[in-house]
Amino acid sequence: MNWALVGTGGITNNFLTGLRAVADANIVAVVSRAEESARQFSVTHNIEKSYTDYDQMLEDPAIDIIYLGTPHTTHKDYAIRAFSAKKAVLCEKPAAINAHDLEEMIATARKNHVFFMEAMWTRFVPPLCKVREWLRYGLIGEIKMVEANFGFSVPWKPAERWLNPALGGGALLDAGVYPISLASMIFGGKKPEKIVSILNIGKTGVDEEVSAVLSYNGRIANISTALCTKMVNDAYIYGTNGYIHLPDFVFSHHASLFTDGKYHYNYEPEFISNGYNYEAEEVISCIRAGKIESDIMPLDESLAIAHTLDTIRFQNNFKYPGEK
Ligand SMILES: NC(=O)c1ccc[n+]([C@@H]2O[C@H](COP(=O)([O-])OP(=O)(O)OC[C@H]3O[C@@H](n4cnc5c(N)ncnc54)[C@H](OP(=O)(O)O)[C@@H]3O)[C@@H](O)[C@H]2O)c1
Repeated sequence: MNWALVGTGGITNNFLTGLRAVADANIVAVVSRAEESARQFSVTHNIEKSYTDYDQMLEDPAIDIIYLGTPHTTHKDYAIRAFSAKKAVLCEKPAAINAHDLEEMIATARKNHVFFMEAMWTRFVPPLCKVREWLRYGLIGEIKMVEANFGFSVPWKPAERWLNPALGGGALLDAGVYPISLASMIFGGKKPEKIVSILNIGKTGVDEEVSAVLSYNGRIANISTALCTKMVNDAYIYGTNGYIHLPDFVFSHHASLFTDGKYHYNYEPEFISNGYNYEAEEVISCIRAGKIESDIMPLDESLAIAHTLDTIRFQNNFKYPGEK
């Protein structure tokens, strides 16, 4: 299937590496706002077509799937235009800046009957697939709690995406979406019925540290995220009969299962490419099967996660420019 990559920044370069490892994928086009970046990216990566006009790219009948590797604030507009042109979209996380925008994106994708998925790549790597299997088999008993952190220190460049409110900057949307998505995956994909949170706004006007306790039908997730703090980014899933440990869970290469205080199993499978290949394989296999969304990262769950992110921000009076 033929892909067009939109944006030439950090994540597009990583995703491209993963996509190259997918047998059924051709990268046929790149879109950049600047002609020189588009040309340079296409030459460096040996991509046949480069565009500076997004709509012109959408008119290209050779292109099946659009990958959006652009700042969160741009996702809605790019995705809606792609759906109207009947193109499938894999959209970087968070799929939108808020639930209101994501609702509109989902409605447009469904109306046009085209595939749409949030690029929550961590869900598709082999250790996370194994964790879902362990949980399905009840190997740690009844699941009671999840604890997960994702935080790091970004370079202090206030104009760039991470720290800039106009580009949807802040820890919660960039990094906090991972532990929340993990908890959601484990606790059934619905919005928590109760959320208690603390969110600290930094000098550039975006959230630099966030902690939240979320209750999913009485089961508890404890998450923290940060943009200017080096954290240990592990996740734990606790059950009545044991627990699972995912070291560095966003870049998960292995999962450890501990049951009954005696049994310990370490799952560390061979990892193909850099891991972004697995989400791309999911997109292709869904489209080949005639599906317009993934069962592993369903759209209603992405929307529930977006509502959770909104609730945490709004509890702490944090809104993006132009948000009501
Ligand atoms: N899945 C992951 O592991 C992962 C990791 C990092 C980021 N992300 C997500 O990917 C998205 C992009 O993050 P990034 O770190 O790659 O950002 P980045 O390095 O700043 O790159 C974003 C690119 O988007 C393009 N772009 C289009 N419209 C833009 C606008 N209005 N302002 C700025 N750039 C614009 C630019 O390419 P041109 O100049 O060529 O147009 C830019 O290079 C974010 O939503 C982020 O949350 C995901």
